[in-house]
Amino acid sequence: MVKEIKVSSKSADSVKADLCITGMFDGKSMSKDQKSLDSVCSGALSSAVELSGFDAKFGKSVQVFGNSSLKRVSVYGAGDKAEFKTDNARDLAAMIVKDAQKHEAKSITVDAGSFGLNRDAFCQAFCEGLILGAYSFNEYKSDKKEKKVTPITVTVTGNASAAMVNKALAIGDSVSLARDVSNHPANIATPTFLANHAKRIGKAKNFKVKILDYKDCKKLGMGAFCGVAQGAKEPAKAIIMEYMGGEKGDKPFALVGKGLTFDSGGISLKPGAKMDEMKFDMCGSSTVLGVMNAIAELQPKMNVVAVIGSTENMPGSNAQRPGDIVTAYNGKTIEILNTDAEGRLLLADMLSYTVDKYKPVGMIDFATLTGAVLIALGHKSSGVMGNNDDLMKEVKKSSDNTGERVWELPMWEEYSEDIKSKIADIKNLGAPMQAGTIAGGVFLQEFVGDTPWVHMDIAGMAWGPTKPSYQPKNGATGYGVRIVYDLLENRIK
Ligand code: BES
Ligand code: MG
Ligand code: ZN
Repeated sequence: MVKEIKVSSKSADSVKADLCITGMFDGKSMSKDQKSLDSVCSGALSSAVELSGFDAKFGKSVQVFGNSSLKRVSVYGAGDKAEFKTDNARDLAAMIVKDAQKHEAKSITVDAGSFGLNRDAFCQAFCEGLILGAYSFNEYKSDKKEKKVTPITVTVTGNASAAMVNKALAIGDSVSLARDVSNHPANIATPTFLANHAKRIGKAKNFKVKILDYKDCKKLGMGAFCGVAQGAKEPAKAIIMEYMGGEKGDKPFALVGKGLTFDSGGISLKPGAKMDEMKFDMCGSSTVLGVMNAIAELQPKMNVVAVIGSTENMPGSNAQRPGDIVTAYNGKTIEILNTDAEGRLLLADMLSYTVDKYKPVGMIDFATLTGAVLIALGHKSSGVMGNNDDLMKEVKKSSDNTGERVWELPMWEEYSEDIKSKIADIKNLGAPMQAGTIAGGVFLQEFVGDTPWVHMDIAGMAWGPTKPSYQPKNGATGYGVRIVYDLLENRIK
């Protein structure tokens, strides 16, 4: 775990550390600072670069021993300078910190100039990579050695922005929080657990947190959410966080999350294989909590509201049945044809409630909504849909900025035909075996009115991706926190 990242204007050779990291692009020429590092190692660095066949290819490295105050120096290849994008910096930093962990380095210095970290976006990305690459989740190991996390202190030397480093720390910590919350199993990460996290984050300046229970939701007319929740003994919660960092009268931006703490499928029970992974069905809500945590730390000048619907989806004598008809918060009636298509039911109420109560200037929802998005895009991208080109452009721009991929799917009118019910207004299924992710999107569209809105189906990205190196080897990724924080911040400028 990266505990701290400091910035120092000193040169890398004059800061005490277990390990110093410096970078080289194709061409392999040594900078002035690298020549100083070379003399700390009595010329071993230049010899190693020459003799080892080091070619500065991306991710390749050589390491030499230094002296008692700078124990080791590693040179990392960064590849072709023209090809080196911010996400490569994030990726490389994650590789670097993993190597540092292998060598049990507790303090590392990074020669900022050698990686081009004088540019703000690169500095932020690199520092995020250090934090995310060092992430591990060992809370349930009883063996002390396995449980132990070695905190690493990083000093970025040379010309780098302290403000960017601090932003990266806040964002890195917030992605880690999203990962942690998601990785806890369903017997721990209950709706109450999520609500408690929201309350803790909401202790920060400019926050208000409200928790609604099942009865409150029922009274409000959230028939779709309550239909899902009625089969679960574990108490359901709607979690509402208001952040007012902007002007008092300004309408907020809204984030809505699916917080299904366990999705068994309900009466339309899922098959047993990989059912354990359905503890991750609350990853949309951890994305929202992650963003709100970054907001709490960075206090951007804007208003944001977050709404999370959280429950388990369980079978039982009180569970809803296929064929049941429920009435959502906005008055639309829904025929439940499969109790496993529960995410859209929960979101139907959370979205229409958010629109009604807050009239947001824009709204994004995050949900592990369909297995179909994995068939379409694998663990490579989320599937996104929306009703507003400008907001979609913002999402795509922030996707480019952060390396968190999105791919837009169409919501042509014909798809909405597929969710019409014979007996109610709509049904919670589309055409059999067709365009499952889009069916989810057009269903949600029924509950957003004219509010500019984007739906992100993150079922393929919330867990599963293991590349680039800043993704964990197993467990939740915290996908979405970075892209959304970037988008919100761009709205202020
Ligand atoms: N949470 C699941 C979606 C899911 C499945 C995410 C597998 C990640 C991996 C969702 O609630 C669900 O069960 N969706 C159904 C919808 C279907 C019944 C229309 C699905 O995708 O099978
Ligand atoms: Mg389901
Ligand atoms: Zn689900």
